[in-house]
Amino acid sequence: MALLETRSLTVRYGGLAANADIDIDVPEGKLVGLIGPNGAGKTTFIDAITGFTSPSGGTVTFDGHDLNGMSPDRRAHLGLTRTFQSLELFEDLSVRDNLLVAAEKPQWYSFLLDLFRPERNRTKHESVIDSAMAAVELGDLADRLPSDLSHGQRKLVGVARALAAQPKLLLLDEPAAGLDTAESQKLGAHLRELVGSGTTIFLIDHDMGLVLNVCDYIYVLDFGRIIAHGTPAEVRTDPAVIAAYLGESAGEAQAREGAQISTAVAAGAGADGDTDGH
Ligand SMILES: Nc1ncnc2c1ncn2[C@@H]1O[C@H](COP(=O)(O)OP(=O)(O)O)[C@@H](O)[C@H]1O
Ligand SMILES: [Mg+2]
Repeated sequence: MALLETRSLTVRYGGLAANADIDIDVPEGKLVGLIGPNGAGKTTFIDAITGFTSPSGGTVTFDGHDLNGMSPDRRAHLGLTRTFQSLELFEDLSVRDNLLVAAEKPQWYSFLLDLFRPERNRTKHESVIDSAMAAVELGDLADRLPSDLSHGQRKLVGVARALAAQPKLLLLDEPAAGLDTAESQKLGAHLRELVGSGTTIFLIDHDMGLVLNVCDYIYVLDFGRIIAHGTPAEVRTDPAVIAAYLGESAGEAQAREGAQISTAVAAGAGADGDTDGH
């Protein structure tokens, strides 16, 4: 059984099926991607998995637990950690303390321990925080405030903060949005390293190049439905995928993405594929 399994997962907003009959498996130790045009229902899927929205049908099973009706907080305690598309860092806290908040996972008795040993949390979580920051090469920025950082560095803090919770499954919602190509490739390399050291990752992104390069397996969503799934090699040549991306008006795609998608599709669908040679 996969670490995360959804079966016929359906989320309705009024008359709109934002997710329709979604079957997705995320096996332990893999990097699984979900791509799809804007409004396809990608964030809705993470919302449904993490308990931020209520499905109208279907099942979500995580690590052997049926998540139906479970609060977001309990799901987080089971080891499901997400990042948000609009990054929400605590601006008054240092980078390190942003991670500490995520590492804490308070229990009902935490306040008692804090009362007697106020420094307990900091020392207990120090090594977890250090390795989360090292994983995205943020170590030297630990004592800075988020406002001192570039957009790309802030996105990485978001990833590191999620890592500090020591998730069984890390759900990333467009971590590469707003990153330039070099930053995005670097992020991809970090994600691969994390998977190599045992973390399971579910990656949503618009950046086709990133997803095709780093994922073990990819699902493609369009208008709330899975239209294709397979290995990167299978997905990049799938006619339905090419149609979904090229079907957007060129003007729209350009305005939003700087033509990133159509370029990636063209490169992916072409005979010589990737720019980085694999
Ligand atoms: N809370 C909500 N209430 C109503 N409609 C929503 C809500 N969240 C998302 N939607 C709609 O569901 C569809 C999918 O949105 P979303 O999951 O954010 O797409 P994506 O992340 O792929 O861009 C969109 O049409 C969006 O407008
Ligand atoms: Mg989204």
